[in-house]
Amino acid sequence: MVRVAVIGAGHWGPNLIANFHDRRRSEVPWVIDVDEHRRDAVTRRFPEIAVSYDPRNAIEDATVDAVAIATPTATHYELARAALENGKHVLVEKPMAATIRDAEALCELAEQTGRILMVGHIFVYNSASQYAKRYLADGELGRVYYVSMTRTNLGPIRIDVNAAWDLASHDIALASYWLDAWPESVSAVGHDWINPGQEDAVFATLRYPGQVLVHLHASWLHPHKTREIAVVGEKRMLTFDDMSLTEPLRIYDKQVASERSPSTFVDSLATFRMSVREGDIQIPRVTAGQPLRNECDHFLDCVERGETPLTDGREGLAVVRVLEAIDRSMRAGGTEVSVEGATP
Ligand SMILES: NC(=O)c1ccc[n+]([C@@H]2O[C@H](COP(=O)([O-])OP(=O)(O)OC[C@H]3O[C@@H](n4cnc5c(N)ncnc54)[C@H](O)[C@@H]3O)[C@@H](O)[C@H]2O)c1
Repeated sequence: MVRVAVIGAGHWGPNLIANFHDRRRSEVPWVIDVDEHRRDAVTRRFPEIAVSYDPRNAIEDATVDAVAIATPTATHYELARAALENGKHVLVEKPMAATIRDAEALCELAEQTGRILMVGHIFVYNSASQYAKRYLADGELGRVYYVSMTRTNLGPIRIDVNAAWDLASHDIALASYWLDAWPESVSAVGHDWINPGQEDAVFATLRYPGQVLVHLHASWLHPHKTREIAVVGEKRMLTFDDMSLTEPLRIYDKQVASERSPSTFVDSLATFRMSVREGDIQIPRVTAGQPLRNECDHFLDCVERGETPLTDGREGLAVVRVLEAIDRSMRAGGTEVSVEGATP
């Protein structure tokens, strides 16, 4: 039984508690939260779990194997560092840390101590996105031209990070997982209407190797909750709607005909239409599954077998490098900036 202490029992922490405390292969001995109301809520649901406001109680407990951190981003570094220094394995929520320097320091510490450091990039553990990954890897879409990713909702509004760090961190991790590559440069604009200093909406374009473009729209100031992705390939196109429980993926047999006879000259709208192929739409049967269950199981597998997580510290660091580049570009009025050392 792996003993996983959870730090942070706000909106997301209780999901980690429920998954790690199923007593199949793990249990939660401690939940830490600075807010008394959050601790009381945990005690009402799980009276057997010890609670405290002080992380040291869990981090210094020799019977604790691992720590899962679901506190605001600004606190991730200190908590993860203390846990690693005390020999604990760490699952830290996204984004891994608030700066490249802090994320690098955590990676180095995990490497020195030989502990598992994993980042909660949950979309990598989603069965629909894993299906899409295989589909892309098999070359079914052909060469990928671009990916468009929209992640919006009205709230929750963060005060310690902007909408890119909070929301687009998922998309950067997912796009890089799908494309098996990291962006070389970024241009982004955003604005802080509600929350001074932290952009409420961010529009970013990431250039990946091979002339692949990824466009991100991340906003907590939007009337609709949207989690929509389109991947446009040379042979086919794919959409992933994470709001659809039953049919999240669609594969469109649509393309612009690439092999025109030399005599075909596209000189009018009508001729152009003829070169567009509109085939069937497939809806792959993807079991809904539980991405967080998959993520927690993967963390436990890595702890038990000493394996490197799919979303390890280096992957989390690469996402933070892209997020810092987005911030640099926004501060420079949308200028394209390079993402240094993004490849994990
Ligand atoms: N993977 C996902 O899909 C997903 C979804 C939501 C949030 N998150 C991530 O989870 C983290 C928490 O987000 P949230 O929405 O639960 O935030 P939240 O504000 O609802 O909860 C954070 C909790 O941490 C507590 N806390 C703050 N500082 C602390 C400290 N130093 N020690 C102990 N407790 C402390 C707060 O009292 C609060 O209860 C963030 O990193 C966020 O990005 C991930």
